[in-house]
Amino acid sequence: MTTKKIVVGITGASGAPYSVRVIQLLIEYGVEVHLVVSTMGRRLLFEESNITTLCAEHFKVDEQLLVIHNDKNLGSSVASGSFLHDGMIIVPCSSNSVGAVASGITNTLVQRAAAVTLKEGRKLILAHRETPVSGIDVENLATLSRAGATIAPLSPGFYMQPKTIDDLVDFMAGKIVDLVGIHHDLPVRWC
Ligand SMILES: Cc1cc2nc3c(=O)[nH]c(=O)nc-3n(C[C@H](O)[C@H](O)[C@H](O)COP(=O)(O)O)c2cc1C
Repeated sequence: MTTKKIVVGITGASGAPYSVRVIQLLIEYGVEVHLVVSTMGRRLLFEESNITTLCAEHFKVDEQLLVIHNDKNLGSSVASGSFLHDGMIIVPCSSNSVGAVASGITNTLVQRAAAVTLKEGRKLILAHRETPVSGIDVENLATLSRAGATIAPLSPGFYMQPKTIDDLVDFMAGKIVDLVGIHHDLPVRWC
């Protein structure tokens, strides 16, 4: 059986704990994660999750399954459609990144990998976080939805009666991981 590969982009929106949990879940379920973090994504990872260095140890995952790509390296494997993978998740996804991808701008590796994921007809999950959203954001999200992306706003539900922040993070991370076909045992499903 070939190992599944998922590209994870982290951009500069609030919600770093969601990205950490998504990466942990994917790797726990044996997925090879190809991680790209924007400059502001790195800042938010530090400010919200105390991650100072992009490495398996800081994400608390198996290093065999975490491949880290430099956001400035547009020659990285994930920049090419010939790199076969099973989908890309941007979590959290800033309005800036939504706008860039919706406009076909590919100045960074996160943006290029997302554009390639769309052109190759693969799953692209955008876990957008901003509130309120402007009309421009709404138009950009609609453009991306029509182009085949799945918009998964970072808005956890309360019907599972969360008790802790970790419960809320798990709810959203579980939903996102479901969207790339990795089925887990977290309590995110009604009934
Ligand atoms: C503390 C902090 C929190 C931010 N939160 C958000 C956010 O939730 N959503 C958003 O769209 N932008 C947010 N931003 C602004 C983005 O980081 C900024 O627009 C940046 O250009 C995004 O770049 P990127 O998409 O390349 O990561 C935040 C910035 C800071 C410093």
